[in-house]
Amino acid sequence: MRIRTSTSASALFTPARGDRSKRRQARRDLVAAQREARLADRPDARTVTAVDELDARPVYPGAGRPGPASARGGKLRLPAHRMTTAVAAGAFPFLAEGGLGSGGMYIGRDVHAEAGFCFDPFELYGKVEGFTNPNVLLAGVIGMGKSALAKSLALRSIAHGYKVYVPCDPKGEWTGVAEALGGRTIALGPGMRGRLNPLDAPTAPVGADPADWATEVRKRRLLLLASLARTVLHRDLAPMEHTALDIALDEVVADAERTGRVPLLGDVASMLGKASRLDDALGDPARRLGAAAEDLAHALRRLVQGDLAGMFDAPSTVEFDPQAPMLSIDLSQLGSAGDDTGLILAMTCASAWMEAALSDPGGGRRWVIYDEAWRLLRHLPLLERMQAQWKLSRGLGIANVLVIHRLSDLLSAGDAGSRGRALAEGLLTDCATRIIYRQEPDQLAATASLLGLTGVETQAIAALTRGRGLYKIAGRSFVVQHLLHPAERHLYDTDSRMKAGPRELSPTT
Ligand SMILES: Nc1ncnc2c1ncn2[C@@H]1O[C@H](COP(=O)(O)OP(=O)(O)OP(=O)(O)O)[C@@H](O)[C@H]1O
Ligand SMILES: [Mg+2]
Repeated sequence: MRIRTSTSASALFTPARGDRSKRRQARRDLVAAQREARLADRPDARTVTAVDELDARPVYPGAGRPGPASARGGKLRLPAHRMTTAVAAGAFPFLAEGGLGSGGMYIGRDVHAEAGFCFDPFELYGKVEGFTNPNVLLAGVIGMGKSALAKSLALRSIAHGYKVYVPCDPKGEWTGVAEALGGRTIALGPGMRGRLNPLDAPTAPVGADPADWATEVRKRRLLLLASLARTVLHRDLAPMEHTALDIALDEVVADAERTGRVPLLGDVASMLGKASRLDDALGDPARRLGAAAEDLAHALRRLVQGDLAGMFDAPSTVEFDPQAPMLSIDLSQLGSAGDDTGLILAMTCASAWMEAALSDPGGGRRWVIYDEAWRLLRHLPLLERMQAQWKLSRGLGIANVLVIHRLSDLLSAGDAGSRGRALAEGLLTDCATRIIYRQEPDQLAATASLLGLTGVETQAIAALTRGRGLYKIAGRSFVVQHLLHPAERHLYDTDSRMKAGPRELSPTT
């Protein structure tokens, strides 16, 4: 028996008579009114649904891509033809990507294929042709959700056995994530109690030859000292200055071993000021080394006596815990004044400390996330450090994530043909995954040429909405909407200050 439903008691009933369009409109109004009534008592659910709907918007309207090329004018009439999907894929080139499979972290929705999208660089390595390294470049204009994506990658990958390291967090926005994951944050800045000794010797990997490891530690320390000196002096070091650093470090390490202490930056700075000791150690009859080290002594003094006093010139207050799921270094108290040098010096020390601790190849899969990396790219010594890390990534099981605003940030590393530019372009080449969030119109041409985007891809990145990015993975492209769990949305919210109402004035103000 067929039961016919009659009109409901709703004010918006569907009239039996009247033309079709009116009936359809009335039905739509009824559904909307019922939904409105359902959500009226649940204000929270309502906001979440509204935002989710925004995220779930299709890229193109139901009628397909607008414009004459859409081939949807209703004029194209072809006879029906039946074939297998394998043949159809060859005959009909407008099929959506098959996706990368279900391995790895869930990111969100592939908006072309209308399917879930998962990503894990270590899963793809060796399986996808042309996927040569696990590093990720993430670029997009301010507020599009780059950090939120990096945080989701971090948080969701914990379940896959990853550990997460954020060597420099200039906005302090990773602290909440680290706490939520049971990790640690070291906050550095004037008046803070955290101390890091960048000359800490990392624990030797299991089975490493002690002599080889001592050479490696010495090399890392020298590289760090030279980077710091170059950052303060704003120039390359002269050959005699390199020798002076070499000798001063060896003297300090020998002293520290004798007294059973750890070598500190302050010890190196004061050793560089002892001209006669340096000259004696070198055995140079002309005694020129002491004089050549003068600039260096003053440069390193900034870390000991200047605005960064104490932070990097004392034994570390924390030990690197390789078992902790996450570690971030909060530098938000530094660099608020116009001069970036303090922040850069701190980043150099902090990343050297962390990178040394990460050099154990048995440490498992790890993310090292450089949020706000555009601030680092202008500084050659930091670029050199990053390039070294990038090269080591496969061997150590580390996936680096570089977060920048625009691709031209890479070009700001130096003029065409300069070493800085070559290093920055090398970083881009060594990122097999490029995730591009919305770019400003004036950046489109540069982005397209640097990444080899097609016309359609270039058009797509100009119109991407928040949380939506073009993923270029070893020559394949996906447009993916990153979906956030409400708890994640709360945890990653960096808009709260923008949304807060105006500060109320007290009677005295
Ligand atoms: N996929 C998403 N869905 C909903 N909200 C999102 C999504 N991604 C980010 N957001 C929200 O957008 C705001 C800005 O995000 P986020 O801080 O990640 O942007 P950003 O690109 O890192 O900005 P900046 O360049 O200033 O660092 C945050 O409050 C975040 O919660
Ligand atoms: Mg950010």
